[in-house]
Amino acid sequence: MENNGQKMLIRRFDPAEENELIELWRACGLTAPQNDPHKDIAAKFAVQSDMFLVGVLGGRLVATVMVGYDGHRGWINYLGVHPDYQRLGLGGLIMDYAEAMLRDKGCPKINLQVRKSNLGVVAFYQSQGFREDEVISMGKRL
Ligand SMILES: CC(C)(COP(=O)(O)OP(=O)(O)OC[C@H]1O[C@@H](n2cnc3c(N)ncnc32)[C@H](O)[C@@H]1OP(=O)(O)O)[C@@H](O)C(=O)NCCC(=O)NCCS
Repeated sequence: MENNGQKMLIRRFDPAEENELIELWRACGLTAPQNDPHKDIAAKFAVQSDMFLVGVLGGRLVATVMVGYDGHRGWINYLGVHPDYQRLGLGGLIMDYAEAMLRDKGCPKINLQVRKSNLGVVAFYQSQGFREDEVISMGKRL
């Protein structure tokens, strides 16, 4: 995607960008009281850091996603595009990149969870080919 003639570069997150990434998460409404963003970044950097992605446009972090593969399913977390850059196709671009990485690893299916307070994002995932699964998503905090 081009913006003023520039293309978004997608690459691995660099820990030196931690504060900028947290600002991006906040702008996207991705931080939650139960999650410490510093801890979440350190934990992901320790596990499959090659799939911790950012999109850079004009020197600025404008998109991000945490991708994971557990050997059975691929997972998408912390997907965000800065509000100033939404609806330009950047979310689709970083998802395409994530999907290609997962395909390369032999992953047959991607799962993701959407908070019930954020149902507006369902239209985006549908545009990327995702469909609602007939499952109840459950969790247990450790
Ligand atoms: C979800 C998100 C990453 C999408 O990023 P984006 O760069 O705006 O998405 P794209 O421009 O690639 O959108 C592709 C298509 O998705 C659909 N879409 C995207 N946002 C939409 C919205 N708010 N409402 C309806 N459809 C939407 C449209 O069909 C769009 O195509 P169009 O712009 O040509 O109509 C972005 O809205 C975001 O960061 N939201 C806040 C964080 C969040 O909720 N993350 C997901 C947590 S589960």
